[in-house]
Amino acid sequence: MSGSSLPSALALSLLLVSGSLFPGPGAAQNEPRIVTSEEVIIRESPAPSVTLQCNLTSNSHTLTYSYWTKNGVELTATRKNASNMEYRINKPRAEDSGEYHCVYHFLNAPKANATIEVKAAPDITGHKRSENKNEGQDAVMYCKSVGYPHPEWIWRKKENGMPVEIVNTSGRFIIINRENYTELSITNLQITEDPGEYECNATNSIGSASVVTILRVRSHLAPLWPFLGILAEIIILVVIIVVYEKRKRPDEVPDDKNGGEHLMHYHPQFKTDS
Ligand SMILES: *[C@@H]1O[C@H](CO)[C@@H](O)[C@H](O)[C@H]1NC(C)=O
Ligand SMILES: *[C@@H]1O[C@H](CO)[C@@H](O)[C@H](O)[C@H]1NC(C)=O
Ligand SMILES: *[C@@H]1O[C@H](CO)[C@@H](O)[C@H](O)[C@H]1NC(C)=O
Ligand SMILES: *[C@@H]1O[C@H](CO)[C@@H](O)[C@H](O)[C@H]1NC(C)=O
Ligand SMILES: *[C@@H]1O[C@H](CO)[C@@H](O)[C@H](O)[C@H]1NC(C)=O
Ligand SMILES: *[C@@H]1O[C@H](CO)[C@@H](O)[C@H](O)[C@H]1NC(C)=O
Repeated sequence: MSGSSLPSALALSLLLVSGSLFPGPGAAQNEPRIVTSEEVIIRESPAPSVTLQCNLTSNSHTLTYSYWTKNGVELTATRKNASNMEYRINKPRAEDSGEYHCVYHFLNAPKANATIEVKAAPDITGHKRSENKNEGQDAVMYCKSVGYPHPEWIWRKKENGMPVEIVNTSGRFIIINRENYTELSITNLQITEDPGEYECNATNSIGSASVVTILRVRSHLAPLWPFLGILAEIIILVVIIVVYEKRKRPDEVPDDKNGGEHLMHYHPQFKTDS
């Protein structure tokens, strides 16, 4: 018995009565049904192991293979020809959270999938401890996270130890947010207002995390300091020599012969040195 051999009116009425008995493309009743285990929330790190499950409960096509994906990427070595699927996560951590799919491929039919969400509070896995720049330059700070759902990001600056949301009156603050990444740029650094502790805060439905980056801003003159140091040394040397000479001369006045000889020797030596 086949649906396509019946008159269309009869086929339609039979379909309405008996549902998935009559497979046909595009009919909602014929879509594979997948039953999944519940969503998982990872609360400790590492947590006790969890097992994700998908069972194909109603299906009219020949299964060719099935596999698991995480965030859209096929998980290696999960490909099988099985309608009941299991995926075990040992000692799950925040980085194991994400959107898992079980995917079923059929012979001559579209593939089907179901979603299991594995959630965890954000964990900030990368940031700069400090950023050191000169005034007038630009500073770039960033944070990246693991943890699903992807967090909302907030940047704050500590004022007297209390984090306060950044105010952009000067228009020098630029924030770029991606799903698991945030970047704060400060242009044309000001030595009076900008140095301090900047905090990035990641918050999702499960929890939140924050880390601090210390921004140091040096004066324009800072790169000149080594040069100024040498200059100061030269000046001090010259002053010492001049003072030494001025002091020496009056002593040498009474003794004409020795003084003259001494000065004659002394001068050429001074010239070659300088
Ligand atoms: C899937 O099927 C297996 C075996 O019949 C059963 O133990 C398991 O509980 C089922 N899982 C779900 C999510 O229905
Ligand atoms: C998968 O298993 C089903 C049922 O046992 C079978 O009909 C089908 O041919 C198998 N597919 C492959 C690709 O082995
Ligand atoms: C799951 O199915 C949806 C809807 O058909 C599709 O957009 C998505 O790409 C599928 N996901 C995977 C991992 O196959
Ligand atoms: C700050 O103001 C500048 C200039 O108006 C703008 O381009 C930038 O997006 C603003 N930054 C934030 C975080 O709102
Ligand atoms: C962050 O998200 C992007 C795209 O959503 C992904 O390619 C990347 O692997 C993620 N990185 C981390 C550390 O989760
Ligand atoms: C992050 O910001 C949220 C919302 O302002 C706050 O409730 C939470 O305590 C902050 N988390 C951390 C770790 O500072």
